[in-house]
Amino acid sequence: MLERLKKTEEEISEFRADSQEAIEYFRIKYLSKKGVISLLFSEFRDIPAENKKELGLHINNLKKLAGDKLEELRSALKYSEVSGSYVDLTRPGIPYFKGSRHPISIVRNEIISIFSRLGFTVSEGPEIDDDNHVFLLLNFPPEHPARDMQDTFYIDRLSDEESNPDDILLRTHTSSVQVRVMQSEKPPLRTISPGRVFRNEPISARAHCIFHQVEGLYIDKDVSFADLKQTLIYFAREMFGKDTKMRLRPSFFPFTEPSAEMDASCTICGGRGCNVCKYTGWLEVLGCGMVDPNVLDFCGIDSKEFTGFAFGMGIERVAMLKYQVNDLRLYFENDVRFLEQFRSAF
Ligand code: DAH
Repeated sequence: MLERLKKTEEEISEFRADSQEAIEYFRIKYLSKKGVISLLFSEFRDIPAENKKELGLHINNLKKLAGDKLEELRSALKYSEVSGSYVDLTRPGIPYFKGSRHPISIVRNEIISIFSRLGFTVSEGPEIDDDNHVFLLLNFPPEHPARDMQDTFYIDRLSDEESNPDDILLRTHTSSVQVRVMQSEKPPLRTISPGRVFRNEPISARAHCIFHQVEGLYIDKDVSFADLKQTLIYFAREMFGKDTKMRLRPSFFPFTEPSAEMDASCTICGGRGCNVCKYTGWLEVLGCGMVDPNVLDFCGIDSKEFTGFAFGMGIERVAMLKYQVNDLRLYFENDVRFLEQFRSAF
């Protein structure tokens, strides 16, 4: 009998009701004349005398428990104007599934947050643009071999033989946004431009025809290469950790002079050498340089008065270094088993 008493006690404590009918069901089941508790009382008469004291106490407690529970159920069930029915306002809410942000959005937001602490604003430009903004004003003359570095998707090309400033194309880099900013605003300028870019390349683990970049531009009087270095080292430490070291290697871009590429000390081995950094201790992060005076003049900024630096980085690249996800395709397939592994404050 003790077993049954305990089981009934549990049932009563856990009982929930979200309607008047359920409460009535409870009352009849436990507290009516033919209910569970009455039945227990009648069985109690036949219990041997030595057990009566203990079991009697239990049954009385059970009766009190059921009475209190009935009161509790009645007062908890309130009429809800919203649903037009009685609801149990004390019931815990139904947990709902929270989505997670895409890793590319997480990294983009973190990059924006880091540069905004240095006073950079965010600017945007069109994904469909013209040759003028994507190439010509960035100091890529029509036959410049550097155009081959960026395989272009054309939307409206005036001639297959030669490029034309009015050719309509998908931007191959976000550097086109710096042109628009320089054309429309006066220095001092301090802005970053995150966005999608497109290149006519076969899709593989290491290349994709769509990816994301963040362009940075800083123009003022007396901006120097030292300012560029300080800005980038601040970025690398905020993004990859405070012990991150950086180095600049000379490079070439038509729109910067001098140009460099920045490597950060390997985020995995801290520079000692591992298979992620191919035992060099360094990882390539971005391209940068001092804005070529030609570009300033083309865009209406006097290169005798102003200097500036620019940089451009791939968001997928930064995400790869941060999360060690080495297959670019994963970022575009949107498999939830991949996406749900990313949680972030950004
Ligand atoms: N636009 C270059 C690319 O897509 C990246 C880049 C390099 C941007 C150097 C810059 C820069 O602003 O200064 O490969």
